[in-house]
Amino acid sequence: MRRACIIGTGAYLPEKVISNDDLAKFVDTSDEWIRERTGIRQRHVAAEGEFTSDLAVAAAKQALQHAAIEVGSIDLIIVATTTPDHTFPACAAAVQRKLGADSAVAFDVQAVCSGFVYALAVANNFIIAGQAHRALVIGSETFSRLLDWNDRSTCVLFGDGAGAVVLNAEDGDGTPSDRGILATHLGSDGRHYDALFVDGGPSSTGTTGHVRMNGREVFRHAVTALVGASEEVLKQTGLQAQDIDWVVPHQANARILNAVAQRLHIDDERMLMTVDHHANTSAASIPLTLAEADAAGRFKRDQLLVMNAMGGGFSWGAALVRW
Ligand code: UT7
Repeated sequence: MRRACIIGTGAYLPEKVISNDDLAKFVDTSDEWIRERTGIRQRHVAAEGEFTSDLAVAAAKQALQHAAIEVGSIDLIIVATTTPDHTFPACAAAVQRKLGADSAVAFDVQAVCSGFVYALAVANNFIIAGQAHRALVIGSETFSRLLDWNDRSTCVLFGDGAGAVVLNAEDGDGTPSDRGILATHLGSDGRHYDALFVDGGPSSTGTTGHVRMNGREVFRHAVTALVGASEEVLKQTGLQAQDIDWVVPHQANARILNAVAQRLHIDDERMLMTVDHHANTSAASIPLTLAEADAAGRFKRDQLLVMNAMGGGFSWGAALVRW
């Protein structure tokens, strides 16, 4: 059986850092409130003229270098983003051009904070079907451009960044001891469209709009969705929660992640957290966290990882990966 194996990871964070105290200078909030309710200390924000595709390219270059492969061997580029440079073409087309990845098929996947898991599932299916051999899957966002900087209930939560992985088609036995992506699960429920959305768009207002969120409603569904999706991928493979070495979750809120760890009976140390220094970078948060932990040498060969995410739509998903 063909398996999609992660052979390289990369990350990029814009230079500019905004602390909670910096935010408290222009919006009615405090470092104490933000830390207590979210675990966030700071976020990175893209510079003027620095686009989502620029962040994506920086992360992708690092992932390619890490995988020690030529860009010409990439035949699929998927960018998970909600903040493309332009309404069209796809951000992936800009990334393809900037990388010179001329042999690739390039397109975007838009599932907000679940975007990376969605993109990974799509790339995995291309590889299993034999339609791609080597894929770049990138999560990249400049969410700062969607924020209403006067709305304290949203502007303190998000940050900019990008993360990338290179997937390579390899042969496996079709058993859970194979390396690579072992299972994916995706879900959506459009009944919650209004709980987390942007109040603008090309077809509605002709403007970009700003993030609007019913935080309590999102919070309530997040834990159930993240736990449910993780259990689903375990069920598909016959593996158990105690087999998991690392959870690489979407980084929305430390309280959500603690609750997920508790419900899955996972020790806090195995739940990777970057929300304190990245904030919520939407589709970029999982690959950023993955690349940071990988660079620190935390993952050992054959360890079992679960990535899980939940966000606007509602959308949610999980991927089970043997390193
Ligand atoms: O990535 C996509 C998924 N997104 C998420 O998972 C986000 C999920 N939701 C959350 O993380 C939390 O709901 C928030 C962090 C957004 C909010 O935390 P909360 O504990 O649910 O607070 P709340 O919305 O119930 O607000 C509590 C109070 C309110 O004041 P009153 O009405 O009790 O007087 C808010 O006005 O906190 C106030 N508040 C703030 N105070 C200081 C809201 N934002 C702020 C702020 N600084 N930034």
